Amino acid sequence: MKILIVGSGGREHAIAAAVAKSPKADKIYCAPGNAGIAGLAECVDIAVDEFEKIASFAKEKGVDLVIVGPDDPLAAGLVDVLEEAGLRAFGPRKNAAILEGSKAFSKDLMKKYGIPTAAYETFSDADAAAAYLEQADFPIVLKADGLALGKGVLICRTKEEALAGVKSIMLDKQFGAAGNRMVIEEYMTGREVSVLSFVDGRTIRIMTSAQDHKRACDGDQGLNTGGMGTFSPSPFYTQEVDAFCRKYIYQPTVDAMAKEGRPFCGVIFFGLMLTEKGPRVLEYNARFGDPEAQVVLPRMKNDIIDVMEACIDGRLDEVELQFEDNAAVCVVLASEGYPVKYEKGYVICGLDRFTDADGYYCFHAGTGFDAEGRVVTSGGRVLGITATGADLKTARAKAYEAAGWVDFANKYMRTDIGKAIDEA
Ligand code: AMP
Ligand code: GLY
Repeated sequence: MKILIVGSGGREHAIAAAVAKSPKADKIYCAPGNAGIAGLAECVDIAVDEFEKIASFAKEKGVDLVIVGPDDPLAAGLVDVLEEAGLRAFGPRKNAAILEGSKAFSKDLMKKYGIPTAAYETFSDADAAAAYLEQADFPIVLKADGLALGKGVLICRTKEEALAGVKSIMLDKQFGAAGNRMVIEEYMTGREVSVLSFVDGRTIRIMTSAQDHKRACDGDQGLNTGGMGTFSPSPFYTQEVDAFCRKYIYQPTVDAMAKEGRPFCGVIFFGLMLTEKGPRVLEYNARFGDPEAQVVLPRMKNDIIDVMEACIDGRLDEVELQFEDNAAVCVVLASEGYPVKYEKGYVICGLDRFTDADGYYCFHAGTGFDAEGRVVTSGGRVLGITATGADLKTARAKAYEAAGWVDFANKYMRTDIGKAIDEA
């Protein structure tokens, strides 16, 4: 089979590595890819928002399956364009990707179908939002409705902070059009867990749990980022939590989307908070997490192409997912200054160490080639160093060992990825 992967981050490298393991994959393309993906796939210089170009490239090459990685093209309807061109695509159509693309949509869906989540109100008017804050409890959470690179959420300790937040989201448009509407919701406390699943419109199969570290600095300080590291499984995701979520969250979400005439085919990523009152949905994503994919996919035993084809063909009920009885930790190596301002173009050394290192993975996120063909940094998140081990502590020690194999001028990482597992 010929496979085209759309995207250029660590998630897409992890997807490419899983696809490359399949005996069915004869040829892999990636648009646009990165320096690491180039070791597994032929990278083509087409951006993720060039839908017509992606479709005509796939037609011309006789691609059998297109896998769409990132949220933006999914929300903007890339899968619909591919299907109209007669291609097979893995990922939700536009009318289902709205599960991630609009927080107001997802909150209304949860309310309508009784799926546990934080209490909330939706606003499309800044004055009404400000008036609501007069009688609210604090802290409180403000969310821009649309996609904002995972940064459209403000946690406000006081009324003054919240009023300033409403202004920056709805009037100053800090997150652009994503702030035309906003959700104001109850502040919850508890541990966060990410759960990834495959869905075929009717059936849902849970992969495994993971935990992300969203803040830039140790001790969960600093700004929110796309994710600075992950581990899988989460020791806090107990059988009891799993049973609750299966009954009240996972299947009910899939059924709700089907009832709304928006059958979801692809990956649903459930962002959960384990509160004192039980698990609650923080958010849905309509794709693999990044860097959750970098710890979940290396543990998956199934042929990823088989699973994706079963989703597209609506026969996921025939598939049982199997995971290694091990653990994985991913430490993100970033450019110092990420997520605000950072330099790039620095040569990366030490990548060869990963070639034959069993249980160690170096997923490229922001990398490219310079004029001399050397691998250089090209983004905020540069590499995701993943290691697997018999348990989380072993995997963490190995991931940090391997994080030391690689070097570049402004290398930055958190030193406490997976620290929470010591409390489990
Ligand atoms: P989201 O993009 O909705 O996942 O929000 C980003 C982050 O904000 C989450 O990972 C949480 O850490 C935090 N967050 C979102 N909603 C809430 C909430 N209702 N209460 C407390 N923290 C929240
Ligand atoms: N790591 C969180 C996300 O992919 O949204």
